Amino acid sequence: MKSVAVVGTGQSKFGRRNDVRLDELSWESLKEAMEDAGVDQADIDSFVVSTVGGWSAELLPAVVVGEYSGLEPKPTMRVEAACASGSAAVYQGYTLIASGLADVVAVIGVEKMSESPTPVAVELIGRAGNYFWEFENFGLTFPGYYALYATAYLSKYGATEEDLAMVAVKNHYYGSMNPKAQFQKEVTVEEVKASKYVAWPLKLLDCSPITDGSATVILASERVARKLTKDPIWIKGIGAASGTANMSQRDDFLGLKAARIAARTAFKRARFDGDPRKLDLAEVHDCFTIAELLAYEDLGFSRRGEGYKMVREGQTYKGGVLPVNLSGGLKAKGHPIGATGISMIGEVARQLKYQVKGNRQADIKNGWGLVHNIGGTGHYAYITLLSQSRCN
Ligand code: COA
Repeated sequence: MKSVAVVGTGQSKFGRRNDVRLDELSWESLKEAMEDAGVDQADIDSFVVSTVGGWSAELLPAVVVGEYSGLEPKPTMRVEAACASGSAAVYQGYTLIASGLADVVAVIGVEKMSESPTPVAVELIGRAGNYFWEFENFGLTFPGYYALYATAYLSKYGATEEDLAMVAVKNHYYGSMNPKAQFQKEVTVEEVKASKYVAWPLKLLDCSPITDGSATVILASERVARKLTKDPIWIKGIGAASGTANMSQRDDFLGLKAARIAARTAFKRARFDGDPRKLDLAEVHDCFTIAELLAYEDLGFSRRGEGYKMVREGQTYKGGVLPVNLSGGLKAKGHPIGATGISMIGEVARQLKYQVKGNRQADIKNGWGLVHNIGGTGHYAYITLLSQSRCN
């Protein structure tokens, strides 16, 4: 297999973007990523578009994006893996290059969730599981799915709603420094605890929001990457796994089995021993605050049942064992479903290249970063390891 590098990244402003159409929104990040990589449309062999869609009328978003961006007639496809669509699209771009079928691939994620009113968006997201058994018959919404995990976790391990709130406080703190984040304001534990319940014990400020946004990464083979840049960021390994559609088929609600399997695969492929101290930063899928604690444990950052202690002790702030979600996470940066994974991979690549401004920039010592991106409630899981060095 050939080595694959990230050579350019771009992200639109996340938030409510009534000012642009889907194709214009994707162009914002694609243009930035092409400029960052120093390529234009003629250099791109193939493009992959990640979007879940359903909020608006566009049924074939990949070709709409391609025509507007001047990428037609390059080969394309739309990729969907729920909230992990972005990482799945990067995986697709990676395999095209690793197999020798392409040298340069643009991976573009875009979502315009606000085109549906919030109750419709909540219904659409609530269908992300087993529609017949869970949504149609029992009315489970997405906050409801993660509330099942939160209640199990709090009751088994003695963590509290305050521990969940501390995840939101950390991620809003970093989001307040990210000019592209949807929410650029800090919140306190008291504010989180006082926000309205959405699905007990999860409150408004435990939830990621409904977001419009786009993100792009340009991937290149080693031959091209060496010509384009002196500091490519290498994709060292991607691990992927799936989970049961039915929640009733899960062993427990204390972690996501698919994430654990995907992490093992990614670590093996990247020849990474799993020691969190060797990572300089991680972006993890905090669609709800409980999800970030599950991620710490599924990735082996902490022992099972002790993830909440990491946040209690401030170990996932800069200066702690491992800074997590310096972008503001899905919680504060926003969660435009199809763009999220690409935005996370772009963030880690920019961090490893010291391209992040101000106090959000991580201290890079070992040159490794990790992205944990979950679709559904662990229905899909993708873990991507990135490194400054091609040979570790
Ligand atoms: N975090 C912080 N503030 C939020 C927020 C969030 N998640 N969601 C909304 N807000 C703010 C809005 O900006 C708005 O503020 P304003 O009054 O100052 O303008 C206010 O809260 C009300 O916004 P509104 O859109 O009416 O909220 P809502 O109650 O309709 O929706 C949720 C809130 C939690 C139901 C919705 O954000 C949601 O469903 N989130 C989860 C999305 C999801 O499941 N994604 C997939 C996960 S993998």
